[in-house]
This record gives sequence, C-alpha cells and structure tokens, in this order.
Amino acid sequence: MQHKGTKILETKRLLLRKWKESDAEEAFAHWMSDPDVTKYLTWTPHVDIEVTRSLLKIWERESGEPHTYKWAIVLKEGNVLIGDIAVLCADEFQERGTIGYCMGKAWWGKGFMTEALSEVLRYCFEEVGFFRIDGEYAAENIGSSRVMEKCGLAYEGTRRKFFRTSTTGERVDIVERGILREDYFKNIK
Ligand SMILES: CC(C)(COP(=O)(O)OP(=O)(O)OC[C@H]1O[C@@H](n2cnc3c(N)ncnc32)[C@H](O)[C@@H]1OP(=O)(O)O)[C@@H](O)C(=O)NCCC(=O)NCCS
Repeated sequence: MQHKGTKILETKRLLLRKWKESDAEEAFAHWMSDPDVTKYLTWTPHVDIEVTRSLLKIWERESGEPHTYKWAIVLKEGNVLIGDIAVLCADEFQERGTIGYCMGKAWWGKGFMTEALSEVLRYCFEEVGFFRIDGEYAAENIGSSRVMEKCGLAYEGTRRKFFRTSTTGERVDIVERGILREDYFKNIK
C-alpha cells in the first residue's frame, strides 16, 4: 500500500471532494450543529459557526496530505454539501483504516451513505491497496449498521456498554465490523 490521500471520487449522484474552509456555512447548517446527528458520535453539536470554520480550516490544510482521507460529500444535483466521510487512522504499515461518516438529516434514508462508502471502499482496495477497513457504531444506530452491512463489513463483535453518549450520558453497546481486501475482491467478482 502507498498512501494516495483525498482523491476526488464520483458516483452516480455524488461528488466526494476535498474540504474547504468556505464549506462552513453549509456544514454547520446541514449537520454539524444538529444533536440528532451527533447523538451517537464522539463530538457534540457545534454551538457556533466559528467552531465549524476552525475545524474546516484544519481539514483544508490537511487535505493535500497523502495520509489524509477526508471527503466532503456533495450532491451533484444542486451542488449541495450533505455530509462527510473519512478513513481515519490510516496506517501504511498495517494497511488498515477506520471508516467514519455523517450526513444531514434531510438526506437520510435515500441510499446516499451506502453509495459514498461503496466508492470509498473501491478506492481504498483497488487504488490505494488497503488490507483492511473497519468501522464501529452504537448498536441502536440502525442506519449505520445497515450502511456497513450493505457495503460488506462483516460483524466482528460487540463491546458491551463501551460508549457513553455525550447527550444523555447513557452507556451503549458498540458493534465492530470490518472488511478485508480478500472479502472485497471476492464479492465484486
Ligand atoms: C448513519 C447514516 C450515515 C446513514 O446514512 P443514510 O444515507 O441514511 O443511509 P442509507 O440511506 O444508505 O441507508 C442504508 C439502509 O439503512 C436504512 N436506514 C438509514 N437510516 C435509518 C434509520 N434511522 N433507521 C432505520 N433504517 C435506516 C435505509 O433505509 C437503508 O435501508 P435499506 O437498505 O433496507 O433500504 C445517517 O443516518 C447519519 O448521518 N446519522 C448520524 C451520524 C452517524 O450516526 N454516523 C455514523 C456513526 S458510526
């Protein structure tokens, strides 16, 4: 594997591109300030657009680095920024990375994240040469469970009461899933 970074990717309905600081207005309005989106995430909703702007400034600066895999998800129709997807902790020796994603509520349940993740996995396995991609989510996060399952990430276990949500303080089970290079190539044949 050799790092290739955040290359522009395209699907039927989506464009996956690098982040720009000027995305702050849409990102803040569409999901980064929404507690329903962050319910099972490790971060809390942004209370001020300046928080979003500072974050995106960092993401823009990192966007050209070969080991950074962080895409803004843009709906081609209308050129609307609807979410983000990333391969985090991408390690060249382990040839491994962890998927993370979120999207504005207005676009849930239309197959967009399945479409985005399928393309990111294609890029990771076919172009970059990852050996393994994993993901985790709160057991009750049915949407995330379905997205990973549909994209071929196999169930690998559950960490009981592993995560405490920042919104309610409730402890929830975390499900682990993963896909290997060999699984990917077996399934697309
Ligand atoms: C999880 C999330 C990314 C799913 O994105 P999405 O674009 O709505 O997912 P898709 O439309 O591709 O859905 C795939 C399947 O899950 C189903 N699904 C999506 N959200 C669902 C929900 N809340 N409840 C039940 N099913 C759901 C879809 O109907 C679809 O089912 P199907 O294959 O039977 O038709 C989105 O809900 C989200 O951003 N949530 C908040 C952030 C988050 O939880 N991120 C993941 C952290 S691990």
